[in-house]
Amino acid sequence: MALDLGIWTIASVVVGFLVLIPSIMGLFGKNKFDVNGKTVLVTGASEGMGRSVAVQLAQRGASVIIVARNVGKLEEALDLVKAAASNPSSQRFQYISADVTEENGSERVIAEAIAWNNGQAPDVVWCVAGSAHPSIYLETSRSIKRQQMDINYWSCADMAQAILSEWLAPGAVGKGGQKHLIFTSSVAAFYPLAGYASYAPAKAAIKCLSDSLAQEILLYGADIKMHTVFPGTINSPGLINENKTKPGITFQLEEGDPGLTPDDMAAGSIKGLENGEYLIVVGFLGQIMRAACWGCSPRNNWLWDTFLSWIIAIAWFFVPIDMDGKVRKYGKKHGHPSTYPKKN
Ligand SMILES: *[C@@H]1O[C@H](CO)[C@@H](O)[C@H](O)[C@H]1NC(C)=O
Ligand SMILES: *[C@@H]1O[C@H](CO)[C@@H](O)[C@H](O)[C@H]1NC(C)=O
Repeated sequence: MALDLGIWTIASVVVGFLVLIPSIMGLFGKNKFDVNGKTVLVTGASEGMGRSVAVQLAQRGASVIIVARNVGKLEEALDLVKAAASNPSSQRFQYISADVTEENGSERVIAEAIAWNNGQAPDVVWCVAGSAHPSIYLETSRSIKRQQMDINYWSCADMAQAILSEWLAPGAVGKGGQKHLIFTSSVAAFYPLAGYASYAPAKAAIKCLSDSLAQEILLYGADIKMHTVFPGTINSPGLINENKTKPGITFQLEEGDPGLTPDDMAAGSIKGLENGEYLIVVGFLGQIMRAACWGCSPRNNWLWDTFLSWIIAIAWFFVPIDMDGKVRKYGKKHGHPSTYPKKN
């Protein structure tokens, strides 16, 4: 999802130049996310962005454990991941079928991962599992609202509990090199458009969880890096489902975002990790929305993030005029939302 920014093209060009600067600077830095020889666990990895992440980390030399519910899809995905290995003789691959929204689901995944990995916890855990159910809020059942929190927020929160309990156990701190815990949120956490009221709060809660944990981990003196990735529209199997329930107004508000392929979204996210970023976005619209929403989160690059957020603060005089205007117009044209054709 994203916003249509048609009315401030000139500002966009200026900002576009500025947002490139940290990327250019990143070209000269050393890789801060070297997974060669490491063990990586990815949830939601049987399709879409999660699968692309697993493939691309295998290309970089990681041993990979993919997690999802459907065994058939996991087997297909694991073949792709294996085929991508840069060093097939030393890299290992495994899938674990699990529902990370179930009670103790994440604990079981981590226990199985450790058993498979010769008693060692994975070095990197990346929570990609999640799904959006766009809809008119008043037309949405309570059970879907709860499910949105389970699949998007609790899937990350429970996994954090499960893996951090291993990494931060009294005897474990300082052993086995740097660790990375990565959450996948959404640009909906930055700009929760109409239609995402059941989904966006779960994604925003992930950002909050990430900030708080990143600080709390400092208590342990452990070499653990937290990151949260904020994808925009991904042209994945998940989007086909989203499209089925998405309100007309939400389609209109998102018109400016053509979306990225799962491969491109994964590649952009990994690039951010390699640059050592904490809150990671992919693409121009992502940069703008993040700049509007740093709040108290740790910055990636204080100078540029601060400068961009000043510019975006001015742009935000225009954005609501455009976006809220579209919503009012849609409401006038189509009447009371209870009369819209039912989607499910
Ligand atoms: C989850 O784990 C806890 C602690 O080990 C246990 O008490 C509880 O019964 C488990 N719940 C389920 C549904 O397995
Ligand atoms: C979702 O809907 C948009 C807008 O109609 C369309 O451009 C896109 O191709 C659809 N994507 C999928 C995966 O169905």
